Amino acid sequence: MQSVILDIGCGANKASRDYIGVDRLALQGVDVVCDLERSLPFATSSIDSIVTRHTLEHIHDLEGILREFHRIVKPGGSVLITVPHFSNTLGFSDYTHKRFFGYYTFDYFSRTSDPHWNVPRYTNDISFHIVRKRLCFRNFSVFSRLLEALFNRSRFAAYFYESKLSWIVPCFEIEFELKVEKAAQASEPCHALGISELASNRAI
Ligand SMILES: C[S@@+](CC[C@H](N)C(=O)[O-])C[C@H]1O[C@@H](n2cnc3c(N)ncnc32)[C@H](O)[C@@H]1O
Repeated sequence: MQSVILDIGCGANKASRDYIGVDRLALQGVDVVCDLERSLPFATSSIDSIVTRHTLEHIHDLEGILREFHRIVKPGGSVLITVPHFSNTLGFSDYTHKRFFGYYTFDYFSRTSDPHWNVPRYTNDISFHIVRKRLCFRNFSVFSRLLEALFNRSRFAAYFYESKLSWIVPCFEIEFELKVEKAAQASEPCHALGISELASNRAI
């Protein structure tokens, strides 16, 4: 059976004709028109992969859309994200940009922490495994290729670049490959703990 792949926020630029294009504008290539700030019109664990390019920076509720990605993608399915890096100053001109992204933005949604910058978790009910992160310098010069090779060599090289050099040599965008992790119990209904359960949990 063919994989079901969504291009979220595809605009008129869908990455492949085989993908299902999702956008709020009914442009050419858009198959599903919806607002990404609301629940996505796809069944739980029905999607193999999501591709989303230069769209998440337009979304107010990042945690909300990631929760929806986590819900609709099958366990182990991938989410490929491309977003502007915070040092990409051109991004500030676009008045619809709500946020910028750093090398560690999606670490906040992962159980595995980066060895060089350990971030806290603000939400515990969704989790992605970070397969790959890549700083992209975009203009296709030899210099950009060198920077990419140098700063994507290791997690430490990326950490050093972002913390010490990013305002000197700006980065254009970052690519992330995430894998959806679903705990077996996460799909079971929650129940409120009663006083006696709270008391016994505390005793443990
Ligand atoms: C900068 S364009 C990127 C288009 C395409 N992915 C590309 O790489 O060329 C951002 C897209 O996100 C869509 N978008 C922004 N906010 C949205 C929302 N709340 N709901 C649905 N689509 C949204 C816009 O309509 C636009 O097509």
